[in-house]
Order: sequence, then C-alpha cells, then structure tokens
Amino acid sequence: MIEHEIKISFQEYGSVKELDAADQNLCQHAVNAMENSHSPYSKFRVGAALRLQSGKIILGSNQENAAYPSGLCAERVALFHWGANHPNDPIEAMAVTAYTEEFALLKPVASCGSCLQVLAEYEKKQGTPVKTILYCLEGPTWVINGIETFLPFLFFEERLNG
Ligand code: THU
Repeated sequence: MIEHEIKISFQEYGSVKELDAADQNLCQHAVNAMENSHSPYSKFRVGAALRLQSGKIILGSNQENAAYPSGLCAERVALFHWGANHPNDPIEAMAVTAYTEEFALLKPVASCGSCLQVLAEYEKKQGTPVKTILYCLEGPTWVINGIETFLPFLFFEERLNG
C-alpha cells in the first residue's frame, strides 16, 4: 500500500480591497451579476464574472426553474456563454459571489463539482489556468489558482477527444 498525500494552497485576503484593481473590479461585476439571479426557490443569489484576455467581462447568475433540475448555477451560465461566444479569448479569472437574506454568509461560497468540471474542461482547452476569486460581501476572499488546486481528481480523458 502506498499512501499519497496531495497538498493544495490558496490565498486568503482579509478583504476584497486587498486585491489588485482588476480583480476588485471583477468582484464588483460578480456582485452586479446577482441582480439578474432568478432564484425564487432557493432565495440564494449567486453571481459570476469572467475576465477574458481581451479585457471583456462576461456575467452569469444562477437561473432556477420550477422543474428544479432544469436550473443552472451562475458559474456554468457564464462559462457556457464563454464557450458558445468567445472560445478563442482565454479566461484569465472568474469571480464568484453569493447573497441571501435567509442567513449571513460569513465565508466565500465555493463552486459546486459540476461547475468545477466544466471549468476544468475549458481550462484544458485554452491551455492556461484560470484564477478563481471567491468573494463574499463581508469577510475573507479566497483566490485559487487553477483547477488542479480545486479538483485534484478531476475527470479528464484525452482519448475521448479523438
Ligand atoms: N449555485 C450556484 O449558482 N453556483 C454554485 O456553485 C452552487 C449553487 C446555485 C444553484 C441554486 O440556484 C442555488 O445556488 C442554491 O443551490
């Protein structure tokens, strides 16, 4: 038996104000993206903002549906928009934030496994890592560089690519 140990590291900032101007701006876009969240069932608003190499910003917010499984997370709304419309303009960074009136969010909300799997595919496709900024309105901001940090056992099979 061989025991393997995987070490990951990420950065925690006490406040979003400690980030550089471009990342602070991206966080503000993620906050703005929550305005279009359609979340009458969970009452949990999520906003995602992607910054592309060209400087273009893409927004996404969670879109729920009365047929619950038909809804989609904010991250995948933004990422699929990118894949459909800007696939040759690499994603540099993604900011994600959330808000609910139901309880206090005191630490950043991490993306679900399905969103990470989608991020992984696009990161591999573009060949450069995406910086993910998890930001909560009050409290710390976490910065995670690259999907391998987030999801060390991600599913990826190059032979499926033909
Ligand atoms: N949600 C996201 O938008 N992103 C995630 O990574 C996790 C969850 C949404 C889905 C649903 O609309 C609400 O948050 C509650 O789960």
